[in-house]
Amino acid sequence: APKKLWGGRFTGAVDPLMDAFNASIHFDRRMYAADIIGSIVYSKALAKNGIISEQERDLLIEGLEKVQDEWEKNTFQLKPGDEDIHTANERRLGELVGSVAGKLHTGRSRNDQVATDMRIWIREEATKVLAHVKELISVAVSRAERETDVIMPGYTHLQRAQPIRWSHLLLSYAWLWKADAERLSQYIERINYLPLGSGALAGHVFNIDRDFMAQELGFAGIIQNSLNAVSDRDFVAEFLFWASLTMVHISRFAEDLIIYSSGEFGFVQLADAYSTGSSLMPQKKNPDSLELLRGKSGRVFGDMSGFMMSYKGIPSTYNKDLQEDKEPLFDAVDTLSGSLQITSGVLSTLSINAEKMKASLSTDMLATDLAEYLVRKGVPFRETHHIAGAAVKLAEDRKCNMSDLSVQDLQGLHNAFAEDVSKVWNFETSIENRNTPGGTSKKTVLSQIDLLKSWLHAS
Ligand code: ARG
Repeated sequence: APKKLWGGRFTGAVDPLMDAFNASIHFDRRMYAADIIGSIVYSKALAKNGIISEQERDLLIEGLEKVQDEWEKNTFQLKPGDEDIHTANERRLGELVGSVAGKLHTGRSRNDQVATDMRIWIREEATKVLAHVKELISVAVSRAERETDVIMPGYTHLQRAQPIRWSHLLLSYAWLWKADAERLSQYIERINYLPLGSGALAGHVFNIDRDFMAQELGFAGIIQNSLNAVSDRDFVAEFLFWASLTMVHISRFAEDLIIYSSGEFGFVQLADAYSTGSSLMPQKKNPDSLELLRGKSGRVFGDMSGFMMSYKGIPSTYNKDLQEDKEPLFDAVDTLSGSLQITSGVLSTLSINAEKMKASLSTDMLATDLAEYLVRKGVPFRETHHIAGAAVKLAEDRKCNMSDLSVQDLQGLHNAFAEDVSKVWNFETSIENRNTPGGTSKKTVLSQIDLLKSWLHAS
């Protein structure tokens, strides 16, 4: 049986099934670069304090760089006994530089090592994911800017409510994604503290310079409590929540587009690049990309809730349950990275049917405007709501459009109606009237675009 890093006190062999059960190398190998940079800086800190000589430090660093090279060239050979990325790298380092490799782990535990690796890893991955979020915002904003003149029905309860600009709808998602981006960049700052130098749990015995290591590794500072340093996985939980909430936004956006791409709506059509056909029905063009986005949100919530279940009952400090933090985190990073890029792709290539959107507006969607007309004539809003409601009913009874009601018809409901009521029956006017900041008028939409563009520019 291969020699275990921790085998000193063991006489019996580990059940091979247990070996496989215990191993994390098949997933934590993707943190190899974080593990190696952590070890390089740790070697420097050991030498700085005279725990190893400068010559030994250089040997270790040279060896670690070779190990890194092997991972990068895909020539690293895993061996039985490489239970995780930490043991694998140390085993290989020993083969390359000999017994000095045994000095690297002085005062260090895999407990502070793995916590450090993960923070380095997620910090970098989160930065890449953040770039995908910003790309998506910029796709939404430039589409909104190009299509400000497109108007469509706005919905509440999926019932036809009021006319809005298509751009206003797109921007409503851009604002959500901007909040996602801000949360993620705050997250990257918040978690950027170093566990290394905490030992297994109780702290480091050789007074290693933790501030030096923090600085070398790009951390803002050190984690002040060693027990906390080795067992805190809030940075995993928080990323998973971030990912879940961002997937909520993507999923709701996907749902809007799925509805709008149905034959009954026909507002949008997905590009071929993001659709698939049916193996049986030749006419089908299915929005699979959007359905997968909606479906994958469930998967990410599973990553979060699964991890929370593993995390909640763990006593102080490190326990092997914590190894279960990696697969959900990796899965969420991969899923978010893919989903954000697909969403950008779908949105930038989608075609819209502006005529269909406009043709789907009907004058009953101006009933509120009719009430507002009376408000302008001095009638209290509560009354105007009833009167406009009666007008809706009248048109419904006559099976006509609201705009077909004559001034006389309306005057039968309230004497404040005059000839100028005909101006109410205009969708653009209704939209332009909503020009208080935040509204759907052209001016307020353009100002949102300005704000988002300058944010994108500055961030
Ligand atoms: N593979 C382990 C993990 O991911 C590394 C830490 C192991 N520590 C230990 N005391 N067994 O959590």
